Amino acid sequence: QKSQAWSALFSEPMSELVQRYTSSVSFDQRLWRADIQGSLAHAAMLAAQGIISRDDLAAIERGMAQIAREIESGGFEWKLALEDVHLNIEARLTQLAGDAGKRLHTGRSRNDQVATDVRLWLRGEIDAIAALLAQLQRALVDIADQHAETVMPGFTHLQVAQPVSFGHHMLAYVEMFARDAQRLADVRRRVNQLPLGAAALAGTSYPLDREMVARALEMVDEDGCAAICQNSLDAVSDRDFAIEFTAAASLCMVHVSRLSEELILWMSQNFGFIQLADRFTTGSSIMPQKKNPDVPELARGKTGRVVGHLVGLLTLMKGQPLAYNKDNQEDKEPLFDTVDTLKDTLRIFAEMVGGITVQPGAMERAALKGYATATDLADYLVKKGLPFRDAHETVAHAVKTATALQVDLAQLPLVELKRFNPAIGQDVYEVLSLRGSLNARRLLGGTAPDQVRAQVARHRQRLG
Ligand code: ARG
Repeated sequence: QKSQAWSALFSEPMSELVQRYTSSVSFDQRLWRADIQGSLAHAAMLAAQGIISRDDLAAIERGMAQIAREIESGGFEWKLALEDVHLNIEARLTQLAGDAGKRLHTGRSRNDQVATDVRLWLRGEIDAIAALLAQLQRALVDIADQHAETVMPGFTHLQVAQPVSFGHHMLAYVEMFARDAQRLADVRRRVNQLPLGAAALAGTSYPLDREMVARALEMVDEDGCAAICQNSLDAVSDRDFAIEFTAAASLCMVHVSRLSEELILWMSQNFGFIQLADRFTTGSSIMPQKKNPDVPELARGKTGRVVGHLVGLLTLMKGQPLAYNKDNQEDKEPLFDTVDTLKDTLRIFAEMVGGITVQPGAMERAALKGYATATDLADYLVKKGLPFRDAHETVAHAVKTATALQVDLAQLPLVELKRFNPAIGQDVYEVLSLRGSLNARRLLGGTAPDQVRAQVARHRQRLG
């Protein structure tokens, strides 16, 4: 049957193995909406240009409406022998619309058709992802707002460094996800460009109106100009738009993965900073006491899978001569899986973040452990006139003494502290407190609760 799908040129049918090997319909059928949308825009333009008749266009439109109903209801019969989504839909159209169906492919190739379909589909997915990213950011902003005043230890090298507001820590992720959203918006501009008209590789001799098709498919730039691929060879052969989407998705997953790692640590008994809602945890089949953070662990794991897709797509592209090669059929599964994984992950995180219970007591106790306010003491001495390097050295001595006595700096009596520097006075205890340390960092971008609340307001305005 397959030999007939091509032409009289073929003298023997394709073997079943080759058919299975070369076909993509099992996975590319998810492009069906974009395929029909692109075909309808192409057909309307062919009619407007007098290349097909109005009657043909009407027959194509009726046929496509019927096909859409069949696919939606599950009644459409996808045939492996028809290779891909494009040929399956075209064959059915010809059954329904006769010669009009056979005229649809005038001035078009599957090469510009598939590039158009993937772009249309991906554009819609980018918009869905943007909405999910906004949802996740809103959930993080809400928890940041509730915990502007909650003190936790900030870490460098996973060693206690300086006290920070838990809200401030959450807002760090909001910044990351905001940049991810910007990156996707930028990628979208290059995704949203029209390949149709490139035909197989060289363009076409029919008087196609590419601008009309671009407008019908809402492929326009910020200035409202039609966004059309300007070189036919490039239009059908590059998949850089899919690669850069996957790169942006990988970065976003890396951000999710870092958050996951922190949630996992914070949930462990050694930290005890947070609890996840039970519905996001799982038990153990043997250890009755367990509540495991499977969701963040899986997100961390799935990040590897998305990064793998990025490497896969780059590798897919690197050796291809111009123009279209069948290699490009291999772009779909990694791209689809990237979209599915990212969407599921963002959706689940937006929900999970809202269900985090914070244990402020545990955070505060941890913040009191590692001399987190030592820098504040040094800054205090600088204000009393010491050069910073000397102050740094002085505080190192104080920390050494406090460590030997197994007490916090704030637990050293004033006489003891004065021995390190006589300029130290009673007001040092406010400086050595966690709150004092937090409140002191009120410059733009700092961790002071006032600053956190100002950032919360800014993000809320931005996110609407
Ligand atoms: N299924 C193919 C793909 O995904 C469509 C284009 C095939 N074109 C061709 N000349 N074999 O890329």
